[in-house]
Amino acid sequence: MTEKANFKVDPRLAKLLGESYRSTEYALKELVDNAWDAEATFISITLPEPMTLDPIVIKDNGNGMTEQELRREYLTVANDRRSRKGDRTPRLKRLVKGRKGIGKFAGLMVAGVMEVKTTARKRQTQVVISKDILLNEEKDLEKINLPISVSEIEDGVSGTTVMLTSLNQRYEFPRADKLKSILMLEYGREHDVSIVVNGENLSVEDLPGEHFTHDETLPDAGTIRLNFKISNGTKPLKQAGIAIRVGGKIVGKPGFFGLEDDPEIPQKLLKKLYGEVEADGLEDSDSVTADWGQ
Ligand SMILES: Nc1ncnc2c1ncn2[C@@H]1O[C@H](COP(=O)(O)OP(=O)(O)OP(=O)(O)O)[C@@H](O)[C@H]1O
Ligand SMILES: [Mg+2]
Repeated sequence: MTEKANFKVDPRLAKLLGESYRSTEYALKELVDNAWDAEATFISITLPEPMTLDPIVIKDNGNGMTEQELRREYLTVANDRRSRKGDRTPRLKRLVKGRKGIGKFAGLMVAGVMEVKTTARKRQTQVVISKDILLNEEKDLEKINLPISVSEIEDGVSGTTVMLTSLNQRYEFPRADKLKSILMLEYGREHDVSIVVNGENLSVEDLPGEHFTHDETLPDAGTIRLNFKISNGTKPLKQAGIAIRVGGKIVGKPGFFGLEDDPEIPQKLLKKLYGEVEADGLEDSDSVTADWGQ
């Protein structure tokens, strides 16, 4: 059954909606940030094939929202999540990214229509938000009716899927390599989330800069592979260093394996070094447990 839902607007709205994003890819990161805050462990983004009218789809297996949460939390604009729910997520204790209660509108900068399907407690709620209607209706945002529907579903897996259609032609067509690079810098060091773009995992190679790789066999760890980039950007990287990845998951914090004490190596260079050692051989070793190094 389709009923009506309404936005509830905070007076800060006008200022906040004036924000814009550098590119489609940065706008999409907002939606990935929402999936992160919802404690998703798997997030997939599918970009359209060039020259098609395919949608952009961002799918997460996070907490999802009930109809009530969608009305109260998603559709309330400029609602500060952290003052509502705290700095950390309840189960995985992730540092919450949401601050302003407007990130969802990033979807509407990129696309004309945003369809949100979200499942929590075996119920799926769907709402369709059309930019044209928001901008062209003479009414206050709060008085605009958004179509919302709720259905029972068999498999109760929670999560949210955002589908963006009628892409804004003024933005460049979204590129997987650019999106992967942005997401790698933000999420590449996280051990409890896996993000795929067009079916591919994020990797060190996605970052801009010169790529180096080296294979080696070590007595305690078996075959390892070192992959790193020296960033060609001007800014130091937020999470510079070499991290260890075992069985696909990052363990511990990135470090420099003593390079930081080498007077020959400029500190500035270290801030542009970003890499990983893949050491799956450590998985069977006693030194690695689930939270090793955390
Ligand atoms: N993928 C999602 N899964 C579950 N809940 C979501 C999802 N996306 C949004 N929400 C809910 O909707 C709220 C509003 O999202 P929105 O991105 O607009 O604001 P925010 O994340 O709180 O802050 P910011 O403006 O800094 O992004 C979130 O706080 C969250 O409660
Ligand atoms: Mg957000």
